[in-house]
Amino acid sequence: MNNNHIKNEILLDKNYKLFVNKKIGNGGFGEIFKGENIFTKQQIAIKCEKVKGDYNSLLQNEINILTYLQGGIGIPKIYQFIPSKKYNFMLLELLGPNLDELFRLCKKKFSLNTVLALGLQMLNRIEFIHSRHIIHRDIKPENFLIGKGKKMSTVYLCDFGLAKRFRDKRTGMHIPENNGKKFIGTATFASLYTHLGTEQSRRDDLESLAFILIYFCKGSLPWKTIKAKSNSEKQAKIIAKKMNISINDLCMGLPKEFSIFLQTIRDLFFDQKPDYDYLRGLLNKMNSGGIPLNQVKFDFMKIFEKKNIDNKKKMLLLDNKESKNDHINNVNLSHKSTKSDTNNNSMNKDSINKKEEKKK
Ligand SMILES: Nc1ncnc2c1ncn2[C@@H]1O[C@H](COP(=O)(O)OP(=O)(O)OP(=O)(O)O)[C@@H](O)[C@H]1O
Ligand SMILES: [Mg+2]
Repeated sequence: MNNNHIKNEILLDKNYKLFVNKKIGNGGFGEIFKGENIFTKQQIAIKCEKVKGDYNSLLQNEINILTYLQGGIGIPKIYQFIPSKKYNFMLLELLGPNLDELFRLCKKKFSLNTVLALGLQMLNRIEFIHSRHIIHRDIKPENFLIGKGKKMSTVYLCDFGLAKRFRDKRTGMHIPENNGKKFIGTATFASLYTHLGTEQSRRDDLESLAFILIYFCKGSLPWKTIKAKSNSEKQAKIIAKKMNISINDLCMGLPKEFSIFLQTIRDLFFDQKPDYDYLRGLLNKMNSGGIPLNQVKFDFMKIFEKKNIDNKKKMLLLDNKESKNDHINNVNLSHKSTKSDTNNNSMNKDSINKKEEKKK
């Protein structure tokens, strides 16, 4: 990396520059900036990670997995990985806002058809990565982004820092069902088995998806507003809530297919292949709008089209939440303390604490 600062830009190599005053995302272990290909002027996203001596690079894990998934619909393109002494940089396709931001733009209210249409795409992304032997392990609204421009109606799955291979590509052998695993992921959307320390598998990605859909329908989840004095107390309370609430109570007021969706996932064995077609069928069955789910116009699209949308808000969301004050040298790249997982191809992110602290 060339460390010369040219105004607010950093040259990463001879082809790319990073705009230090255009931070577009804050992650649990890195930060995302806008950048540009110097020659083609193509706008890109750059995920940065501070290098630490005893630290297993989550970004390296992410790049390995993303490279393997390239070409899939709704998988961000990667352009380059640039390691350096202080920071590692992953250069990737610039996308639009994430689903958490879009949900808030819609005042935490999505129509059923928007939930179902988003759900269908999210399910398809998860099925795709599973078909490539990968589990995500941090399925949540912030990790689904919409594309830019013509790709605005495509939902992308991002953030593969915690992703892991769950079976051998050649032999098809599934990882073993270990217990006593340290919690990784995000408490609000983590599956019950994940809280209980069971090794994650395909069913856990899908249970998180079910929680997202219920959250999008209801605007909250029973354990989302839990307060506690410490993170361990909070974790314990969330587990208790998730264990004690029945699926019917959780899905109260929603079409019965939501309960069936979650129950079907909860009934899966550790290494069982989920019936994605059946789950898709449940989403389609709830679609009463007359328009196929893959043609539904998301609620936020309608907001974008409204002429009177507050320009500042639109800028914030669509032109990428650029923060004017950050400088790469001052950036608080909050790192996860990581250690190698016992199974291959995976590193632990930080505990629940940092993840949850980051949430409002
Ligand atoms: N390619 C991209 N284009 C535009 N914005 C992006 C892109 N990648 C990530 N972001 C934004 O940055 C946020 C954080 O990115 P990401 O989830 O990859 O980081 P992270 O450190 O792994 O996050 P966390 O651990 O908190 O989930 C995303 O929620 C999204 O809003
Ligand atoms: Mg993320």
